[in-house]
Amino acid sequence: TFTPRVFSGIQPSGGLTLGNYLGAIRRFVDMQNEGIQTIYCMVDLHAITVWQDPAALRRQTRELAAGYIAAGLDPARSILFNQSQVPEHAQLAWIFNCVARMGWMQRMTQWKDKAGKNSQNASLGLFAYPALMAADILIYHATHVPVGEDQKQHVELTRDIAAKFNHDYKVDFFPMTEPVIEGTATRVMSLRDGSRKMSKSDPSDMSRINMTDDADTISQKIRKARTDADALPSETDGLKDRPEARNLVSIYAALSDMTMAEVLADVGGKQFSEFKPMLAELAVAKLAPISTEMARLMQAPEEIDAILGRGAADARAIAAPILEKTYEIVGM
Ligand code: ADP
Ligand code: NA
Repeated sequence: TFTPRVFSGIQPSGGLTLGNYLGAIRRFVDMQNEGIQTIYCMVDLHAITVWQDPAALRRQTRELAAGYIAAGLDPARSILFNQSQVPEHAQLAWIFNCVARMGWMQRMTQWKDKAGKNSQNASLGLFAYPALMAADILIYHATHVPVGEDQKQHVELTRDIAAKFNHDYKVDFFPMTEPVIEGTATRVMSLRDGSRKMSKSDPSDMSRINMTDDADTISQKIRKARTDADALPSETDGLKDRPEARNLVSIYAALSDMTMAEVLADVGGKQFSEFKPMLAELAVAKLAPISTEMARLMQAPEEIDAILGRGAADARAIAAPILEKTYEIVGM
């Protein structure tokens, strides 16, 4: 039996999106406030699986930390740090590279999506990404990982790696970590294409709402979001086969802490020309305080760096003994 402990991370590979906020960061804050030990990371080693401009990476890492704090993560109650500052992640990842099987990695849908047709030219790191993610989680013996739906398969692979390690070395050392995928916005879709998830790595800025977008930009992106020509239905059944409509309603529901059914009971029958300004007003009201606080924190990068420095020391205090024990189990 393992003590409940929460770990999760986000890549500093661009600005934070509304998808990251609703699918991940809001849940991070909820779990922190439940009083479980919570550990949250900027996964910069994951970000460089695709080339990043060094100055941009440094800025985005601080901005992500500012986003965490502005959204309600409290450095006194959660451990916040950069992945690269805790070398035990990469050290355990190597061991997991030797546990994970090629066939497991080849089945990962994120690998298939991101490597695309030109997979011979993808980095080895992009292929091994899920083994590093397993190390991120298991170096803390984390039992729960709040993530969006797109990461479910990687958490399942983390369990496969833990199970194979435990089996191969005849130990009960790594826990079977559970993904925590909750709420109405576990998969926020692109505003331009209802079949793709909203992502910071989408080349089109109009496809996403960034946490740092100003009110006019948010309103414009929502106004231009792709929709169909019909009015909103009054029940959730009416959203079947209408992915763009469903997406906007689910964003509204998540931001207002309502269910989709409650939202539709209010707005059913309205045209998008009427609903979109309501959604824009709500999004601006919810996001503006966070982006204002992010901007304030970005004026004090040394304050952010100090928080992350302390977080890395606290994280290492947990990770180092687990790595040492892992080495011992493996015979090193
Ligand atoms: P991105 O795809 O924006 O680069 P990451 O891969 O860094 O995001 O994911 C960070 C966290 O945000 C993960 O838990 C992921 O599941 C969640 N997340 C990312 N995009 C979305 C989305 N569109 N809807 C819900 N959750 C998301
Ligand atoms: Na992702």
